[in-house]
Amino acid sequence: MNEMYVVMNELHVPSERKEMLTERFSRSADNMSQVPGCIEFLFLDNEKEDGKQVVFTKWESKQDYENWLESDAFQKAHKSKGSSEKPAAQTNELQAYTVAHQSSK
Ligand code: HEM
Repeated sequence: MNEMYVVMNELHVPSERKEMLTERFSRSADNMSQVPGCIEFLFLDNEKEDGKQVVFTKWESKQDYENWLESDAFQKAHKSKGSSEKPAAQTNELQAYTVAHQSSK
């Protein structure tokens, strides 16, 4: 049986770009609900640190995540939106986990 897989991408966002980034992610819940094997998508604001926003994704398996990384949908979401536009996130930090136990309603 496949283990579920969680990947979180922490984005470090200058405060003046936070609103823009939040806007860019406004359609991502719909987008991710179409992706095979993606059980959950959350876009999170850190309560204490204004410049941290986290993309949380939960997958039926690591393979489903890897398939998405190679998909046109991933490419489309991550291609730069024109050469003059600066990326909204300054840096990022990726963390991946296998799910050992879980409870959900
Ligand atoms: C490697 C550096 C990465 C950076 C700097 C980055 C940053 C971003 C940004 C700025 C967007 C919004 C795109 C837009 O402008 O509309 C985005 C979309 C997204 N990113 Fe990343 N990302 C990276 C890699 C990843 C990885 C490895 C994951 C895995 C969890 C991930 C998860 C997502 C998701 C779920 C979306 C929304 C996709 C959609 O709407 O279809 N990102 N990312």
